[in-house]
Amino acid sequence: MRLAVLTISSSRSAGDDASGDALAEAIAAAGFELTARELVADDRASIEAKLKSLAGGADCVLTTGGTGITADDVTPEATLAVCDREVPGIAEALRASSLSETPMAMLSRAVAGTLGTTLIVNLPGSPKACRHCFAVLEPVLEHAVAQLNR
Ligand code: MTE
Repeated sequence: MRLAVLTISSSRSAGDDASGDALAEAIAAAGFELTARELVADDRASIEAKLKSLAGGADCVLTTGGTGITADDVTPEATLAVCDREVPGIAEALRASSLSETPMAMLSRAVAGTLGTTLIVNLPGSPKACRHCFAVLEPVLEHAVAQLNR
């Protein structure tokens, strides 16, 4: 299982990317391979380009950040623009589970979808949210990727 992490933030840099760190740690703890880790600003065209390039070398791309409702938050739009098909159940499950952690979970517009044989999943931009959502996602990742490669 090859995973790539894309942090989407105009304020963070590689040195203080706590959400990306949390995902990298969770991926390692799960025994998966982290094939790439990048950071991009909240710019729709830049996000789309990064998603396309990362999808070429990963079974799953996890994004963190830019899913909320501020004017800058364009991660879901960029993700849907590059995906062939949406997988709404993943976003539904992550949001529903996250509500047990914080009511603010309903403010995340995160989506999930497929680009070729790669699964792309948006996660909110906080380390706590990343840890929580990865734990929800992990049990279905192997099966999802196997289905995509059938
Ligand atoms: N989901 C979980 N599990 N834990 C969290 O702390 N934070 C919420 C929400 N989802 C949160 C969460 C908050 S405060 C916001 S504003 C939205 O995600 C969007 O965050 P983003 O714009 O950083 O992606």
